[in-house]
Amino acid sequence: MALKIPIPGRKKETAPEPGDGAANGNGASPNGTNGDGPTRAEKVAKVKEATVHHGTAAAKNTTDWLDERVNGTGIYTAMLSRKVPKGTNWFYTLGSSVMFIFSMQAITGVFLAMYYTPSATEAYSSISHITNEVFLGEFVRGLHKWGASLMIILIFLHMARTFFFGAYKYPRELNWVIGVVLIVLTMVMGLTGYLLPFDQRSFWATIVANNITASGPVLGPYLADFLRAGPDFSATTLSRFYALHMLVVPGLIGGLIAAHLFLVVKLGTTAPPWIKAPRPKGSRPSELVPAGVPMVDATEMSLNGHSGNGHVEVSENGASLPTAETDGAAEGPPSEGEAS
Ligand code: HEM
Repeated sequence: MALKIPIPGRKKETAPEPGDGAANGNGASPNGTNGDGPTRAEKVAKVKEATVHHGTAAAKNTTDWLDERVNGTGIYTAMLSRKVPKGTNWFYTLGSSVMFIFSMQAITGVFLAMYYTPSATEAYSSISHITNEVFLGEFVRGLHKWGASLMIILIFLHMARTFFFGAYKYPRELNWVIGVVLIVLTMVMGLTGYLLPFDQRSFWATIVANNITASGPVLGPYLADFLRAGPDFSATTLSRFYALHMLVVPGLIGGLIAAHLFLVVKLGTTAPPWIKAPRPKGSRPSELVPAGVPMVDATEMSLNGHSGNGHVEVSENGASLPTAETDGAAEGPPSEGEAS
């Protein structure tokens, strides 16, 4: 009988033939087992798993561990894999663009803060040092300076988008209000940052801005005093502007952006006004009748300008359901062009 020598990796996973165990002279089967232990292929797989994929497995375990505690997958899905309405277009990227520029301002700001000195005597020279001597200093300063203007432009465009698409309406009013605070804070960032180079232009421009603030009604003079940090412009004014510019206002903006995004994810985004919302699946007029109206009357009722023929239009956020005030319209004469 010919001696069968198993070649590693060549042997197919077949059931051992009778007599094979005796043939290799040690009583073991040719796949390296004595019958009840793991097969050779299983052993190889185990070794591979322990060596080749060791790093991958460790990374997976770590991410699983973290995910179980912070629900990263849930947050990721809610933020980036959420469903968006039909007709969503490039205008909807404006909010994210503002967020991107804000992050860029935060990063470049940290680098500038490493070299900037907020002192009346040294501020200007530290800015010159950043521009002329620090490696890539002029570039980083340019990014921060132009980024500030870009952020203002983008934030106004984003606000215009939400206004013209009617996204400020119920139930998103709170997000609009948060947005208004964000735009004010962004302008405060512009104002406080402008003084920091402490050259002639920034000094006098800030004095003008401060005087304008002081002319505001009721709170104006107090606000101007607070910003000036006293009755006159002084070294303390610069420190105050610096603290506001790099700690207080960015912190507020960061927190408000988080609340803003939370509401965007919770409420979803508004469809463009030219997209007609479909009738919600399974909705019947009976589901849309306000409490207290008998079903019989409901079928006769005019909803959103349509007679009660079972055809009910609902705005995409359900805001235009008839209310107690609109009930009266149901009893009045049919509107122009409406079949009674
Ligand atoms: C730092 C400033 C801001 C950031 C980072 C920001 C970010 C965002 C993002 C990422 C979205 C979702 C995507 C989109 O619609 O673009 C959004 C939606 C929204 N934003 Fe802003 N936003 C800011 C300022 C504002 C301002 C100034 C307003 C208005 C006064 C505003 C009002 C809204 C509203 C109402 C929505 C909901 C849009 C919808 O439902 O379609 N946001 N924002």
